[in-house]
Amino acid sequence: MFRFQRHRLWPRLYDTGACCGSHLGLTMRRTAFALLLLLSHACVREASARRDKGHVSVVVVGATGDLAKKYLWQGFFQLYAEQVGSGHSFSFYGGALSEAEKGAPALFRILKGLECPSGVSEERCALLKDRFPKLAQYRRLDAAEDYAALAEDVRLRLAREDLAEAGRIVYLSVPSFAYADIADKVNRSCRPGPGAWLRVVLEKPFGRDLDSAQDLAAELAKSLREDEMYRIDHYLGKQVVSQILQFRKDNRKSLEPIWNKHHIERIEIVLKETLDVKGRIQFYDQYGVIRDVMQNHLTEVLALLTMTVPADLSGSQEILRRKLRLLSTLQQMDRVSAVIGQYQAYGAEVREELNATKDHVTITPTFAGVVVYVDNAQFEGVPIFMMSGKMLDERASYARVLFRNEVFCVQDPGSLHCRPRQIVFHVGHGDLQHPAILVSKNLFQPALPDHGWKEVKGQKEALFGLPPSDYYIHVPTPHTEAYAVLISQVFHGRKDNFISTEHLLASWTFWTPLLHRLARQVPRVYPGGAANDNLLDFQLQGRGIAFATEAVVLSSQDLGGGAAAAENFQVMQGKYRNSDMVSAWAEELVRQLAADIQASAEEAVAEGGMFHLALSGGSSPLALFQRLAVHHYSFPWRHTHVWMVDERCVPLTEPSSNFHTLHEHLLRHVRMPYFNVHPMPVQLNQRLCVEEDGGPLAYERDIARLVNGSSFHFVLLGVGYDGHTASLFQGTQLEAHGDKLVALTESPAKPHQRMSLTLAAINRARRVAVLVTGRGKHEMITQLSRVKDDPRKWPVTGIKPASGKLVWYIDYEALLG
Ligand code: BG6
Repeated sequence: MFRFQRHRLWPRLYDTGACCGSHLGLTMRRTAFALLLLLSHACVREASARRDKGHVSVVVVGATGDLAKKYLWQGFFQLYAEQVGSGHSFSFYGGALSEAEKGAPALFRILKGLECPSGVSEERCALLKDRFPKLAQYRRLDAAEDYAALAEDVRLRLAREDLAEAGRIVYLSVPSFAYADIADKVNRSCRPGPGAWLRVVLEKPFGRDLDSAQDLAAELAKSLREDEMYRIDHYLGKQVVSQILQFRKDNRKSLEPIWNKHHIERIEIVLKETLDVKGRIQFYDQYGVIRDVMQNHLTEVLALLTMTVPADLSGSQEILRRKLRLLSTLQQMDRVSAVIGQYQAYGAEVREELNATKDHVTITPTFAGVVVYVDNAQFEGVPIFMMSGKMLDERASYARVLFRNEVFCVQDPGSLHCRPRQIVFHVGHGDLQHPAILVSKNLFQPALPDHGWKEVKGQKEALFGLPPSDYYIHVPTPHTEAYAVLISQVFHGRKDNFISTEHLLASWTFWTPLLHRLARQVPRVYPGGAANDNLLDFQLQGRGIAFATEAVVLSSQDLGGGAAAAENFQVMQGKYRNSDMVSAWAEELVRQLAADIQASAEEAVAEGGMFHLALSGGSSPLALFQRLAVHHYSFPWRHTHVWMVDERCVPLTEPSSNFHTLHEHLLRHVRMPYFNVHPMPVQLNQRLCVEEDGGPLAYERDIARLVNGSSFHFVLLGVGYDGHTASLFQGTQLEAHGDKLVALTESPAKPHQRMSLTLAAINRARRVAVLVTGRGKHEMITQLSRVKDDPRKWPVTGIKPASGKLVWYIDYEALLG
């Protein structure tokens, strides 16, 4: 790289700030021009030498990959074009695994194709395009020695050209498994000298769940400080996304009264795409749509829409703090929070790209709809829908805030104040084709910055169901590319649009439980494009969502392309261990069980005015609780008493308490008298499950007092991997319980101490249901089907209602494996 040597060549140039300019003294001008002519190719850079702010070395690792080709070099070129007059000088290193003979021409081809940012004159553009490739060189970057050699070259160059160093940007555009190793090499040999900064930019994925994200973060922390890491989410560089907070601040007066649960009906955050994932399947098949775009891009948008807006938007720390607070108030999701789909051709594409055998099945979702709730006073109860998918009918990305319209229009429903009211942050593509912020005219006239935004009119097509004349439409101008914006922010050391470790982990904490729950769920198969029709429409069902249309969901065997088997969805009746058995896919099974419980409840209430229901803990009944909470409006809750089958000896407020789970998933959603709810008294005299405190006896007395003949109408049980049921485990002294209805027991798993109904209590019940779901239980179900009754070894085999009925509810996964 050529550079004026400040002290040797032309001292006044720096003082006057005039290279190629007009302030040079006359006597000097001729000489200056001669020199400038000679060095014309260096002029652009030297114009920047007003104040020497130091040299910046940029290293792009993965320099010839797709992302670098499409966005990164363009972004760095733009940075160079912006900064060339500011006093910084640059050198660029493109690194990849190939040898120079292959890598260098590839890099050269990319650099040749770069385009100037809009507003740059033709001459200046030509000059920049000529200069930039000369500042760049290809390096093979693989082994530690390659990084050390690069660092040595940088050092020599700085010394040779007498350059003060401002800092180094290392952009890792490589698969994330390589991050820790590269970060280590950078740390060992590529750190700049004292006083200069190091900024390492990382591309997602940053893990695939909380654990792996934590591991990766810990690995990176061995080599890099938090302030040195810039985790990119390119959505934060999109013009409309990066305007959301500013928009909310500038329109505070109009928004404050309506930006809450009383006025917002729903929020939709959408990223629809028409393309498939061919060519990216190695990556995509391990991640799927939720990890690919929801955990990051769409969650960022959600946070910007619902976090509190700091008074001062110039402070990164405060923005990040508030975003973090918002993430921690997102309500835990469960299985009913999402619907998933997979485009039909995906399976074949996976088999081809991964060279997999014909019978290889993938259930990675390429489509997802999710409903999220914010658990705070401002947004409580407002459904926030996220939706994204490949192979949909259009490419569009937006966030839409739809307000309730409380006006009752008596005569002219078409008039403006009767129409839907919405604000749309249109990120890109779609009907509008460009980014824009749309505000319904019946809301307010928005304020947007004069600089960089303009109002547009004359749009013809309907937008989000309304004529364009119903909106104030503002578009950013000129259009900027997200990567270019973010690269410039890395250069300026501005961190509010990057993902801190804390922030990343908060997002994974939110998404991971749902991802784990969905891990074995078979997605609905969709044909792709317009043919999807309404197959993927989904709707609110209580606090969850479900596909709006019935469709035959293909079983995993069918995902290979076979026809759907309708009988897969039927409920099957049969026998298991000589008792009745109901079997179906999990969802249908839960539906059936809930219906059976309701039927039992109605019968009991009709007969004696009250229904006594005893419920187990564990994860199996969660879906049942949710279903009862959401779908059973006519359930006689006011006449129902809820009892516990067993309890862990922990305070009832602990999430691991069975009662706590029941409360969260069922009790708090239904209207029943508080005195009909009977948690087990595991905590008496400020201590847990101490025999002398008489907890079991107290519970037994309550049962005897309220339940006719201590005979529950319905007892719901589960069964553990080891054959335990309630909290009766292998080794529990069942005989010692005698006629006792409640006992303290010991579990092999933590927390060890339990309180449980005894076999005597359970076997007095009118009806006992044992619910078993999931492939993990298959082995146990198979084994149980063969063993004789042996309650000491297999406590569940001791369930023999004396005058009642036992029914097994076993889903297909547990039954068939
Ligand atoms: C990327 C995802 O992060 O975002 C892609 O990996 C997705 O799958 C893309 O297509 C969407 O971004 P944009 O900028 O095209 O809306």
